[in-house]
Amino acid sequence: MVVMSKTVMILAHPSIEKSIGNKIISDNFSKEKNTEVRHLDQLYPDFNIDVKAEQEALLNAETIIFQFPLFWYNVPAILKHWIDTVFEYGFAFGLESTLNNKNILVSFTIGSPNKHYSDEVIEKICFPLKGLTQYCNLNYIGEIFCNDINGYTEEAKNNAINIANKHSQKLIELI
Ligand SMILES: Cc1cc2nc3c(=O)[nH]c(=O)nc-3n(C[C@H](O)[C@H](O)[C@H](O)COP(=O)(O)O)c2cc1C
Repeated sequence: MVVMSKTVMILAHPSIEKSIGNKIISDNFSKEKNTEVRHLDQLYPDFNIDVKAEQEALLNAETIIFQFPLFWYNVPAILKHWIDTVFEYGFAFGLESTLNNKNILVSFTIGSPNKHYSDEVIEKICFPLKGLTQYCNLNYIGEIFCNDINGYTEEAKNNAINIANKHSQKLIELI
């Protein structure tokens, strides 16, 4: 029997109904086999994270994707809060931790054009998430991001839809 490995997407987006990029990326991803999307804002509108349920979901997957729109060079607040509560001692790190060796993939959308996001800037943005994976003995597969995800004009919106679809194809090829 072939056991397909599962990939869980931890999606943070406070207004998914207005989203262009993260909606396309998470919807396309959810159509793939052996995937699960956990939209934190829908699951926990009051930020009251069910730590045990989240830990269980991570243990059931081989690969974990952090999916989010870039907010002030950072992850949205709910994702930071989720990490702070779910990645606890004894689970994610420390003696008898159980989360070892999972794959971590960071996937995000950026409103501004690529020219403002050099390799150095991207590295700085990803540094905390990369540090987290190293500290917890997880495998950092890498980061994937796309720029120009905004709906400022009709043309910009159509462009963003194309870019997000390409991003989601790349993401699916990686899992
Ligand atoms: C609070 C907030 C902070 C943001 N900070 C940045 C930023 O630092 N750099 C940037 O290029 N875009 C920034 N943006 C734009 C978002 O990254 C962009 O709207 C998002 O990636 C688009 O994804 P979506 O279509 O799924 O909403 C910010 C947006 C909000 C609401």
